[in-house]
Amino acid sequence: MNSSPKTSSESLMEKIAASKDESSDGAPLPQLKPKLLIVDDDDEIRTQMRWALAGEYTVIQASDRASALQQFRLTRPAVVLLDLGLPPHPGTPDEGLAILAEILAMDRSTKVVIVSGQGEKGPALRAIGEGAYDFVGKPVEMDELKLLLKRCFHLAQLEREYHEMQMGLHGDSFEGLLGTGQRMQRVFDSIRKVATTDAPVLILGESGTGKEMTARAIHQRSSRKNGPFVAINCSAIPESLIESELFGHEKGAFTGAHAQRKGRIEHSSGGTLFLDEIGEVPLATQVKLLRFLQEQCIERVGGRQEIPVDTRVLAATNADLKKGMTTGSFREDLFYRLAVVQIMLPALRDREDDILLLAQSFLQRFTAEGGKTGMVFTPDAMRAIRLHPWPGNVRELQNRVKRAVIMSESKRLSGQDLELESSASANHGISLKEARERLETEMIRHALSKHAGKITAAAAELGISRPTLYEMMEKLSIEKAGE
Ligand SMILES: Nc1ncnc2c1ncn2[C@@H]1O[C@H](COP(=O)(O)OP(=O)(O)OP(=O)(O)O)[C@@H](O)[C@H]1O
Ligand SMILES: [Mg+2]
Repeated sequence: MNSSPKTSSESLMEKIAASKDESSDGAPLPQLKPKLLIVDDDDEIRTQMRWALAGEYTVIQASDRASALQQFRLTRPAVVLLDLGLPPHPGTPDEGLAILAEILAMDRSTKVVIVSGQGEKGPALRAIGEGAYDFVGKPVEMDELKLLLKRCFHLAQLEREYHEMQMGLHGDSFEGLLGTGQRMQRVFDSIRKVATTDAPVLILGESGTGKEMTARAIHQRSSRKNGPFVAINCSAIPESLIESELFGHEKGAFTGAHAQRKGRIEHSSGGTLFLDEIGEVPLATQVKLLRFLQEQCIERVGGRQEIPVDTRVLAATNADLKKGMTTGSFREDLFYRLAVVQIMLPALRDREDDILLLAQSFLQRFTAEGGKTGMVFTPDAMRAIRLHPWPGNVRELQNRVKRAVIMSESKRLSGQDLELESSASANHGISLKEARERLETEMIRHALSKHAGKITAAAAELGISRPTLYEMMEKLSIEKAGE
């Protein structure tokens, strides 16, 4: 079973395994040759250039405006070689100049090199006036072109790094993610590396560790950042609706489908699709998702037309997909398609260097938002923060600080204000694991009884997802209140 899709994902994995880079959890990252788009209506010239340049670059080709823009949108090359005279008006530079304008509108940092025929210096100079980087004359001198391309790619890279450095100057935050410790720095490195590729990324981590923020950071750092970021929480949508939500439907596809509707995948075109809680997708939908990932085409529910969609797919889960694969609830072929690169977010309790930094930063933010000033943590609060196991991770920390800022009448926030066990009594004669389980049990029981056994409400209060709550209840043998 699954033999053909698995073969292609295996070859993908092999390609990646051949590279030397490593992501935060030690998994290899794809090393791709820089992408170069060649736009020319002369087959011979394109073939010649491709032949000369394919060793250093992934060469993408187009012969007219429509295909050039489609390829640009799909592959986002940093450099484009552009012939100005293209059909339907090969005698004028109009088509070429129109392509130049549209490419720069999509990404201003693209380096466009004009390839101009003899006696076309005028149009080439005009193109430079409109934002092209440089031009070369026909017949193209290959060595000269190679040097020029090298300079273009180098410059594009420098500009990107400069931009990143500028962003880095704004505090310890990386796209809003805080973390100075080694573990989070490794995560930021991985985000930087994968952001510039179109490879699917699987983001793993316990509830509240920042998976969605990581997905947004990848989008924000990619060439798709001006396109939409469409998130869909697969566990929040009833099984019967998930297919039409993802793929859309045609009018009359099922009872209640009064009009045609585009799905989230189509809405993410030109941007990024974030499939949150991917482990919760029913098997039938997994098959369709796999097809979409392989073909980059979808069919709406009840439709027959193949619709191409150019989107980058990110997925996240706090479930154990490997276990799902052995029990048959998650398709292996889909896993390998999605997990080309994996980023593992560490649990908050494992980020010793960052816990207090995060707590302080939330304290600052919430006091400012609440119009309060000068609030601080007592030493006891800081100890309690360090010792607490944080089952709900960053979200739990954020919620506790927020609640304490709102509720406390004193400017000094204690462990009690944070509703954390005082550090003095936290570890008397019991192991950390026992302490953690006791506290988790107590908090879950409390939340369940407060919300009359309603799982969704209790999970929201605890700052964890429903599946995580179910998992923890099973692990700690907790039954729903009132049952
Ligand atoms: N490193 C961080 N720095 C600052 N804020 C963070 C960080 N990580 C997470 N947060 C904040 O914590 C909250 C939870 O983050 P997020 O929603 O990204 O987590 P998640 O892993 O997707 O959670 P869940 O599994 O429950 O969906 C958000 O409010 C986010 O802003
Ligand atoms: Mg999330």
